[in-house]
Amino acid sequence: PKILLVNGPNLNLLGRREPGHYGHHTLEQIVDELKQNAAQAGVQLEHIQSNAEHLLIEAIHNSDADMVIINPAAFTHTSVALRDALLGVAIPFIEVHLSNVHSREPFRHHSYFSDKAIGVICGLGAQGYQFALQAAIARINAADK
Ligand code: DQA
Repeated sequence: PKILLVNGPNLNLLGRREPGHYGHHTLEQIVDELKQNAAQAGVQLEHIQSNAEHLLIEAIHNSDADMVIINPAAFTHTSVALRDALLGVAIPFIEVHLSNVHSREPFRHHSYFSDKAIGVICGLGAQGYQFALQAAIARINAADK
């Protein structure tokens, strides 16, 4: 089984980017830990981070993953195209945000993804990705049986 982790724009700056909102972990630390946990569960974790919308869309088009975990970052609030890519390949997905988008500016309250996601995790920092991974693995294993 395979999970594709997708991280949108500016998440490459994690660790030094507005730590009050996004914490002190770097993206590399987060992804390394997720890859280890996935491997322990016998699941392959592929990762893409890009600041370019079309690269994220193409990674989704080309994926043969069973599940996507996605933090679309600012594209959450803007991208019909990224939403359509996920619906186009029909790979189920979990949406993650480090910060609690609902406690922030009103333009962050709307997501182009949430109504189609299996579930949405926000406000729990880097731990949110771990919870999403656990949920994704549980679902993949349940579907196998
Ligand atoms: C974010 C929240 C978005 O509103 C913001 O544009 C991001 C990160 C989060 O993880 O909290 O870049 O998705």
